[in-house]
Amino acid sequence: LASHWSLAANSDYSALTDITDKGELKVCFDAGYMPFEMKSKKGGFMGFDIDIGKQMAAAMGVKYVPVNTAWDGIIPSLVTGKCHIIMAGMTITAQRNMKVSFADPYIVVGQSILVSPELAGSIKSYRDLNNPKYTVSTKLGTTGDAAVKRLLPKANTNLFETETDAVLEFVNGKADAFVYDMPFNAIYSAKHKDKIKHLDKPFTYEPLGWAIRQGDPDFLNFLNNYLSQIKGDGTYDRIYNKWFKN
Ligand code: ARG
Repeated sequence: LASHWSLAANSDYSALTDITDKGELKVCFDAGYMPFEMKSKKGGFMGFDIDIGKQMAAAMGVKYVPVNTAWDGIIPSLVTGKCHIIMAGMTITAQRNMKVSFADPYIVVGQSILVSPELAGSIKSYRDLNNPKYTVSTKLGTTGDAAVKRLLPKANTNLFETETDAVLEFVNGKADAFVYDMPFNAIYSAKHKDKIKHLDKPFTYEPLGWAIRQGDPDFLNFLNNYLSQIKGDGTYDRIYNKWFKN
């Protein structure tokens, strides 16, 4: 059959086979993104994504293996086989979805804004930040980065490799605002109540999904059914309440 596009990868690769053979579910994430994945004091990892990943591995009857990966290398790590899945609060975007497959969204978030109390009077929404007199910090290669480029083209932007560096730029007064996923900002601002004002109404729509290699319908089928199972049987709510309610 002549065709001017290449055939879809119809290799027989299934992550499920490899997971079963090795007895391991290798999960990529990028620790530092509260409350989804953080380093624990004991040197391990903890958070919403970590707990769901551990539950998933237990349901599969295999070991959960954490693969902490810098954000800019996370999709390449998946594609080159360093992990079976990305469980990292990754927003399902068209650009990313051209490189990886996403399971159905497991939560929906959006970008929100941290400003200093002094600026809270003049900055009431992201629109007020779209001004060359303001500098905004966020994390490189994230949807925060994309949102700032798309919706705040007139503002100055300072991009950082980690959440910590990006938010510290703002806390240290070198940026007027910090733009990032709302759950992260909610936790950060709660810890620094009198120093930070959180404009907590998200101004983007961001479903988060687990990413896997393209061309693996069996694993995708497993993930979507696993997600509906834990949403129905109370597991999801229990883990959600642990990390999102306090
Ligand atoms: N949701 C945002 C994005 O997809 C940020 C995710 C950051 N995740 C992390 N594990 N550091 O770009």
